[in-house]
Amino acid sequence: MYKYILLLIFSLLFYNCSTTKPYTKFKTAEKWLDNNKVHINAHGGGFLIYNKTYYWYGEHKISGEKGNKAMVGVRIYSSKDLYNWKNEGVALQMIKNTSSKLQIGSIVERPKVIYNKKTNKFVMWFHHELKDQAYKAALTGVAVSDNITGPFEYINSFRIHANQLPINLLQKDFDSILPINENQKLTKQIRIEQAKLGQLFKRDFENGQMSRDMTLFVDDDETAYHITASEENQTLLISKLTDDYLSLTNDYIRIFPGQRNEAPAIFKRKGKYFMFTSGLTGWNPNPGKLAIADKLMGNWTFLGNPCRGTKEEMATTFWSQSTYVIPVIGKKDAFIFAADRWRPKNPIDGRYVWLPVQFENDIPFLELFPHWDLSIFKN
Ligand code: DGJ
Repeated sequence: MYKYILLLIFSLLFYNCSTTKPYTKFKTAEKWLDNNKVHINAHGGGFLIYNKTYYWYGEHKISGEKGNKAMVGVRIYSSKDLYNWKNEGVALQMIKNTSSKLQIGSIVERPKVIYNKKTNKFVMWFHHELKDQAYKAALTGVAVSDNITGPFEYINSFRIHANQLPINLLQKDFDSILPINENQKLTKQIRIEQAKLGQLFKRDFENGQMSRDMTLFVDDDETAYHITASEENQTLLISKLTDDYLSLTNDYIRIFPGQRNEAPAIFKRKGKYFMFTSGLTGWNPNPGKLAIADKLMGNWTFLGNPCRGTKEEMATTFWSQSTYVIPVIGKKDAFIFAADRWRPKNPIDGRYVWLPVQFENDIPFLELFPHWDLSIFKN
């Protein structure tokens, strides 16, 4: 009898350890386990919907203080319901050869993937910094694959728009920009002024503009756009991609000079474009921002902080930084604000803050829900 009781206890214990119930809700900033019961490792993520499945691309981080360097590459997960994610492996692998810009130990951040219907290719863009050069290089990188899960083939990383003026800067205005006064002591305020006056833009005109935090957006007509923090992160650039999505065209605009935006995440609802961004405080959170435009390449207007809640929640965007806005399959005008709660001392343990985008008078806002599910979206 004693033997049977022991056996029963062991089987119950084993059953409890080996089966985990599928998730049926989002649990803000808690550990989020994949199909292998490992915390999802896809930070600064980008999402792609394809064949009624969600794909999540993100930075594979490592434990410890150096964990923000790209030692592995861009990881990919898939999901049918947004709660439960299957590890699909490494979509873009870092390269061992030290002559490659994409060598192990360089920095790869905020990967985004879009699907090109004409070429039937998946195209990935990401923020890329060269090995041992901290954030100096400020490049955008591009890779391509025939398969959604990769392997993506690395094409190149580069500065953008060398010797090209944006469509919203006239030649005569560009000509009148004075060079940076190198004798000035560099402060935050001076950087802001340099961007507002166009001096950072002019400094990088010949060698190409900086590209750091970035995202992609595909419009209803399949035109794709690259949106990036430039000019020492003081200004945003929005550029039209070529038809194959593999290059930037000369069609681009420069917006919010001197307004220090990172982490752009764009979505479209009822014909309006919305963009969540963050401020500029390294890995520390700061107040979120929201902007609106009638045309992606048109005039953007800031609407303020989209967060509602306590002072601290508003000052930190719920302790997170935006990365993407995910449209929900089968629900009309339903979007999820996806953000990262960085853990710079142990980046692999970074958490995910996903919140429903709510609307009041057609203007988005965000509130903290510790636990929530898709039934919040009514349509
Ligand atoms: C904030 C950016 O949004 C991140 O992607 C990363 O580049 C950190 N800064 C680095 O400090």
